[in-house]
Amino acid sequence: MTSLFNNSPGIGPPLRLSLKAQVTDGNLYCITVAMKRERGIQQPGFLLALHFLALIVWSLPGARALDNGLAMTPTMGWLHWERFMCNVDCQEEPDSCVSEKLFMQMAELMESDGWKDVGYEYLCIDDCWMAPKRDSKGRLQADPKRFPSGIQGLANYVHSKGLKLGIYADVGNKTCAGFPGSFGYYDIDAKTFADWGVDLLKFDGCHCDSIEHLENGYKHMSLALNRTGRSIVYSCEWPLYMWRFHEPNYTAIRQYCNHWRNFDDVCDSWQSIKNILDWTSSNQKRIVDIAGPGGWNDPDMLVIGNFGLSWDQQVTQMALWAIMAAPLLMSNDLRYISPQAKALLQDKDVIAINQDPLGKQGYRLRKEDNIEVWERPLSELAWAVAMVNLQEIGGPRFYTISIASLGQGMACIPDCIITQLLPVKRKLGFYQWTSDLKVQINPTAKGVS
Ligand code: GLA
Repeated sequence: MTSLFNNSPGIGPPLRLSLKAQVTDGNLYCITVAMKRERGIQQPGFLLALHFLALIVWSLPGARALDNGLAMTPTMGWLHWERFMCNVDCQEEPDSCVSEKLFMQMAELMESDGWKDVGYEYLCIDDCWMAPKRDSKGRLQADPKRFPSGIQGLANYVHSKGLKLGIYADVGNKTCAGFPGSFGYYDIDAKTFADWGVDLLKFDGCHCDSIEHLENGYKHMSLALNRTGRSIVYSCEWPLYMWRFHEPNYTAIRQYCNHWRNFDDVCDSWQSIKNILDWTSSNQKRIVDIAGPGGWNDPDMLVIGNFGLSWDQQVTQMALWAIMAAPLLMSNDLRYISPQAKALLQDKDVIAINQDPLGKQGYRLRKEDNIEVWERPLSELAWAVAMVNLQEIGGPRFYTISIASLGQGMACIPDCIITQLLPVKRKLGFYQWTSDLKVQINPTAKGVS
């Protein structure tokens, strides 16, 4: 391993450095402007100009966000669906059925095991919490056997742990799993959720019979939630269902939703993660610029800590979800999670990139010979870069990238400090605009650990 420090930056002829860094798998780097952070301002005019330019470029007015003051950084929390799905059999499987007991256990662990401390705040119920019928006043009700304290009781418990509670409903006539839908009941349901003390609504789009129903329903529920006066994060699946008809109007979606799903449900498999990344990069011209404080693209849950991903693949999901400014909603079992997966999910440096206050989503910069390079602009002129080796045969591969090609040429002017964050944190040292960065990246084949 070689890391290099050049302590006479910006002086003398440009030097082309080739730096070898033996780093492995879904690598994540943070590039900070060395001049500003480490050595004081040496060329104030230039730096000021750069800063000014950056401000102009990065503050181009995006679409207006939903005006509820929420999700100024991507939502962090836990959502039951991928891991526990629609298991309603508490007789046979009392520890893994969708019940208040499950959520109370997760709430306790989120508080006691450091999850809340690093930012995982929303404990979210997905489908299958409801009783099959509304009550006599037309209100949704929780299944009384599985949720004997009701959602209000659960919300009180979750709040007592310093956490927030999320719930699930559907814009159509039924939820995807066949429970009562909200069509015709948007106002009643919004009020019911607010009365119960709910803090987030995931609003699904199954069983909707027309585009108008879908669009008007999502808008109606957004306004109904706002009218309750309670702060409720609004998580939509509007574009996912809209794509079946035509390209969604993301400007409108951002005005009504705090985050929105664009693509298929995540599964506990590398194929699923790859499909999500492929869809995101193929559509990045449409979706990247629309994201920002108050409104985010949602590539679906983190499945780290489950069964389907190798260690390298889990690292890759964490790195790329940080680059994509994605909501970090884990779906795993916090009672049995491995220390390694826990440390990855609780990595403060990676979470800081995900939660960066500039709120710009990253994008895929390059794909060549089965290596992908992604980058994301961060506040204070820093950049995050992730590299993925998609080759599923062979061993670790070397990849060399010129620093000048990162950050639209501005990631490292005239020099910078690079810190590797994943798979392990390591200072790579001082680089110049003219340097090369040479890294070694594990393949994402299964079984690598
Ligand atoms: C849809 C959603 C999933 C989940 C299920 C529940 O498939 O996309 O995230 O909420 O419904 O039935």
